[in-house]
Amino acid sequence: MTSRVSTEKPVRVLFVCLGNICRSPTAEAVFKRQVEQAGWQSLIQADSAGTAAWHEGKAPDARSQQHARVRGYDLSALRARQVKVEDFADFDHIIAMDAANLADVKDLRLQAGESAKARLSLLLDHHPDLQGGDVPDPYYGGAEGFEQVLDQVETACTQLLRSLLKTQGVFGCGC
Ligand code: 4NP
Repeated sequence: MTSRVSTEKPVRVLFVCLGNICRSPTAEAVFKRQVEQAGWQSLIQADSAGTAAWHEGKAPDARSQQHARVRGYDLSALRARQVKVEDFADFDHIIAMDAANLADVKDLRLQAGESAKARLSLLLDHHPDLQGGDVPDPYYGGAEGFEQVLDQVETACTQLLRSLLKTQGVFGCGC
């Protein structure tokens, strides 16, 4: 049985990494699918962005797409963008993949001033065993790095979804 108060605005989650072509689009796709499978698309929305603008407008890295596809996630329609000051007002949660991303996001938040409402955290703060850790950047490494990203992201996103739904008064989500 699920229950919730039905009048809330959607909870908006932004995943942030450096380039927005490997880790954060993976997190976006994984989390969106988990949200859809749980049936809560009306309540929880997600996006992703990079602290750098290097890959603006580009699709996710081909290796990220390929490894994700094997697990049933389609990243092909996603396009990179840089995190912006307005994101602090537009999103309820900004979730960084590593400590450097979090530090950069905190710096940018200074420019958002009073309008900033987003709570900041590391993705692995939501992981049952890896709190405080970094999702390692797979960009310059081999296949195992992309698999590790998927493993960590899947587990952390499941916990994140459970905790967001609980906060919204949804219990027994089946996720
Ligand atoms: P991401 O990985 O931050 O997970 O998207 C990277 C993507 C590109 C670069 C570094 C990391 N780069 O140096 O271009």
